Amino acid sequence: VALIGFMGAGKTTVGAILAQFLGFEFIDTDKVIEQRQGRRIQDIFAKEGEPYFRRLESELCAELESATHKVIATGGGLPVNPANLESLRRHAFVACLWASPETLHARVRTQQHRPLLLAEDPLARIRELLALRTPAYKQAHLILGVDFRSPAETARHIANAFHHGTPGE
Ligand code: S3P
Repeated sequence: VALIGFMGAGKTTVGAILAQFLGFEFIDTDKVIEQRQGRRIQDIFAKEGEPYFRRLESELCAELESATHKVIATGGGLPVNPANLESLRRHAFVACLWASPETLHARVRTQQHRPLLLAEDPLARIRELLALRTPAYKQAHLILGVDFRSPAETARHIANAFHHGTPGE
């Protein structure tokens, strides 16, 4: 199972709970990249630039094609690359966590570790990026609104859809 969606949608939190429900291993692509590089995402962005980070993401995504029994929380920008999205859709049940810009903003406001949101007007930046990414996010097998769902409820929905192959919300 792969979780996609914007920064702050809760992919990591929901993914960890979902992995427990399913008895799968949980992995977070940002964490794997940080561990392998021995530095934080913001350092990778600052020292090597975004294209370098996107290359690491794509390499990891390709590696994960052969993974089984895993819940993969992806970085918010990972499915924006069509090759990554296609790869996920081929080998995983892809669920998108969908939140409004206001909810996303409220959740990420106090956090500093996302280089793409260090803008003068973060809410405007979220709206802009979300609009650009919506076509990619909408290609998930399941799109689930999380504005009014707890992480556990969200995980339960995804587990049910995964087991029963329920389309859509
Ligand atoms: C990014 C999202 C981040 C991280 C990086 C870029 C993005 O992951 O991969 O800062 O482009 O949306 P989260 O979605 O886990 O915050």
